[in-house]
Amino acid sequence: MKTMKTAKAREVAARAAGGDGADRAGSAFSVKTYNAISPVGLDKFPKGKYSVSGDDAALEGPPMAMMLRSHKLQVSEVAPTVRGIVRCGAGTNNIPVKEMSDMGIPVFNTPGANANAVKELVVCSLLLASRGIVEGNNHVNNVINVEENNDYSKISVRIEKDKAMFGGTEIEGKTLGVIGLGAIGSRVVNAALGLGMNVVGYDPVLSVEAAWRLPGDKMSRADDLNQLLEVADYITIHVPYIKGVTHHLIDAEALKKCKPGVHLLNFARGEIIDGAAVRAGYDSGKLTGKYVSDFSDPDLMGHPRHLVLPHLGASTEEAEENSASMAAETLMDFLETGTIRNSVNFPTTILAPHQNSSGARLCIVNKNESGALGEITTFLGTQDCNILQEINTSRDSVAYTVIDLEKVPSDPLALQDALAAACPSVVSSRFIGSVFKDELGQPGTFFWVRDDQR
Ligand SMILES: NC(=O)c1ccc[n+]([C@@H]2O[C@H](COP(=O)([O-])OP(=O)(O)OC[C@H]3O[C@@H](n4cnc5c(N)ncnc54)[C@H](O)[C@@H]3O)[C@@H](O)[C@H]2O)c1
Repeated sequence: MKTMKTAKAREVAARAAGGDGADRAGSAFSVKTYNAISPVGLDKFPKGKYSVSGDDAALEGPPMAMMLRSHKLQVSEVAPTVRGIVRCGAGTNNIPVKEMSDMGIPVFNTPGANANAVKELVVCSLLLASRGIVEGNNHVNNVINVEENNDYSKISVRIEKDKAMFGGTEIEGKTLGVIGLGAIGSRVVNAALGLGMNVVGYDPVLSVEAAWRLPGDKMSRADDLNQLLEVADYITIHVPYIKGVTHHLIDAEALKKCKPGVHLLNFARGEIIDGAAVRAGYDSGKLTGKYVSDFSDPDLMGHPRHLVLPHLGASTEEAEENSASMAAETLMDFLETGTIRNSVNFPTTILAPHQNSSGARLCIVNKNESGALGEITTFLGTQDCNILQEINTSRDSVAYTVIDLEKVPSDPLALQDALAAACPSVVSSRFIGSVFKDELGQPGTFFWVRDDQR
């Protein structure tokens, strides 16, 4: 085991640089970035309090956290001092999450930050399905223009004449079935109501937080997917892809229950809809609607009823900015207070604000084993550390404990070493702020890690 004297190292560095290391160890929280992160997000980090860079040499100390977009992170890139990793985006499959859990490092993401972008494309797609927009535009460019040989006087006559081929219907008064009522689904519900549609929603595992975002009195709820399938003129899907659960959620059996003219919108994942079953429905004439998606399907490519777009759902400037802003805020909350929100491997953990600024907050990652918490609190008792408040949460093999101590320990470094020696379940620990004579939430975190974790 060893103690990482990173705070001390930063103090020395800060003094050498003429900083205020005499008052506190560590002149800034250092955050290593990968990829081009939106400046809107990077600007969230207060200057001076945070040192943020993609270049190790430009950081004020070893990185305490990492922020990235698509960079495929290697375990070897994660310095022993790193205590959190945030991805600007929803997916985290470019991060070795399992290894990070073993190393006691929470991985965060930014769920819902791109929800408005997807919602707007869904609204657009309702109209792409209801009116001959894509087909009409293709006809003008590829048929009329070609057949009339670029002769504008003839083209304008044809444009009037051929409009009859592309008549549509209106979406007002029609019924939209929304499967999945989370960040995107709830926004789609509200937009559709605003357009005068009737909305029926289905989400058997809806969270309480998501339920609060729904206009419960203005929409109807399907307790069973079939209830939605039977009444919907449009069906839009906003559930995660989960093998064995949402794989082919809309299959041949489900399609049999739908109205023949149903339009399908899929901006979730391609595999949620069984493309072969949809194609069979179109080719037999049993289904006469359209299928709009930003995912390709091998059975439907080139089919005239399938309007497929590049994977554009979240591709807006604003979505990137929102993701980066949310990532920065999540990370700052974690570094400054120990709070864990939007983590894919750690439990949500929110401790009430620190009551006593002369005390110290100790954040401990430990293995989720019986007796671990008792060991930790008993040990702190033997060290004359009075606990003012604490929270202990767990998720899978990881447990996270945040403890506010009444007093700053005389030697935090020695205390962390002794804690680790006494409690084998402890993976890492971190004091925040006040041990370095700062208010809680100011730079001055202090790390401890085991040798065998590196
Ligand atoms: N096209 C794109 O570019 C794009 C962008 C972002 C997200 N997405 C996709 O959209 C999906 C939804 O995103 P979100 O931000 O709304 O996620 P979210 O987690 O906020 O919402 C998902 C909802 O689905 C519900 N759900 C889970 N399993 C279900 C089931 N079997 N039946 C019905 N409901 C179920 C959950 O309760 C939750 O309310 C994502 O999983 C992702 O695959 C696509």
